[in-house]
Amino acid sequence: MSVLVTGGTGYIGSHTVVELINKGEDVVILDNLSNSTIEVLDKIKQITGVLPKFYKVDLLDINSLEDIFTQNSIELVIHFAGLKSLTESIGIPLEYYNNNITGTLNLLKTMKKHNCKKIIFSSSASVYGLPKAVPITENFDLHTTNPYATTKLMIEQILNDLYISDNEFSICILRYFNPIGAHESGLIGEIPNGKPNNLLPYIVRVANGQYDCLNVFGNDYKTKDGTGVRDYIHVVDLAIGHIKAMDKVRNDIGVHIYNLGTGKGYSVLDVINTFEKVNNIKIKYKFVQRRPGDIGECYANANKAKEELNWEAKRDLEQMCKDSWNFILKSK
Ligand code: NAD
Ligand code: UD1
Repeated sequence: MSVLVTGGTGYIGSHTVVELINKGEDVVILDNLSNSTIEVLDKIKQITGVLPKFYKVDLLDINSLEDIFTQNSIELVIHFAGLKSLTESIGIPLEYYNNNITGTLNLLKTMKKHNCKKIIFSSSASVYGLPKAVPITENFDLHTTNPYATTKLMIEQILNDLYISDNEFSICILRYFNPIGAHESGLIGEIPNGKPNNLLPYIVRVANGQYDCLNVFGNDYKTKDGTGVRDYIHVVDLAIGHIKAMDKVRNDIGVHIYNLGTGKGYSVLDVINTFEKVNNIKIKYKFVQRRPGDIGECYANANKAKEELNWEAKRDLEQMCKDSWNFILKSK
């Protein structure tokens, strides 16, 4: 039996595939390569010694999905594939709803038809909208402020309804906080499409001279130094979280929801200072206006994952900053 990883050549997907292979799982990857490259497969082979089976397939193409399920014995699906830029989603909401929602509906219909009833889904802390407090627990109110986050919330609802209609399903919804870092080999990591929106991808591009200066969005938040605070989590810890979630869906039917974060909040200045210290590089920055739609503080209470999945993040901010930069150095 195989584990199907949708979006498996992407940033989080590729790191999870490495952990799956290391654990001896048989992996099948599906990706349309809209935000990743085929070379990632070779990098996975360099790290693990195994070249995973790969289908260049779009989730919107239900006939090709059907072929994958006919040709393979899929026990469980880890579903990463989706468009993920909050900013972009505001400009092209229909593309986001079509890709993320229709793609997921096609996947779930095909899974049900083939009696495959175990799924782990990539959700996001963005489903908490503007949280009433921090740290955020899984039972906080859910509300969204942009189409990207709404696709995540809608898919969570679809998965809940699916379970109500058929309680042989076993579903794990993982709400990620801010994944950064890269595999310690430096062979796989995050390659943003165009100018990065997110903090770490921007910092590494200031470090390598691609951009002159980092804009720090706001220094008047009610945080320890006025800059935004987030729960950065090393992508390898996040990948391992999926391995733990697999044990859960294999053993317990139902819908299980977990925050995957470290439970610690770091400010933008903490990240800049740590990056400078561990990599011995100066990052030029200036304070500018707050970014529209940003929140001051967002970090997880990750106790539920610790108690029920026996998982907790192990890698610290220094490791995250070191590995992010190592990936850029190795990519040159
Ligand atoms: P990514 O863009 O690197 O990976 C997603 C992969 O899905 C890409 O390889 C892309 O080519 C593929 N894809 C997109 N639409 C597809 C389709 N219709 N059919 C087939 N393949 C398709 O993104 P990532 O950072 O690895 O994120 C993975 C998942 O985690 C996404 O669902 C994302 O929304 C979610 N998530 C990411 C973050 C983050 O900060 N990276 C935070 C919270 C949640
Ligand atoms: C982003 C995404 C969100 C996603 C989350 C987790 C956006 C607008 N939001 O939010 O959808 O779920 O990551 O990956 O893309 N910052 C700067 N300068 C920069 C970039 C960021 O000061 O050039 C600051 C931000 O204001 C924020 C912090 O750095 O305080 C982190 O920003 P970012 O990496 O974009 O993460 P989120 O804001 O959490």
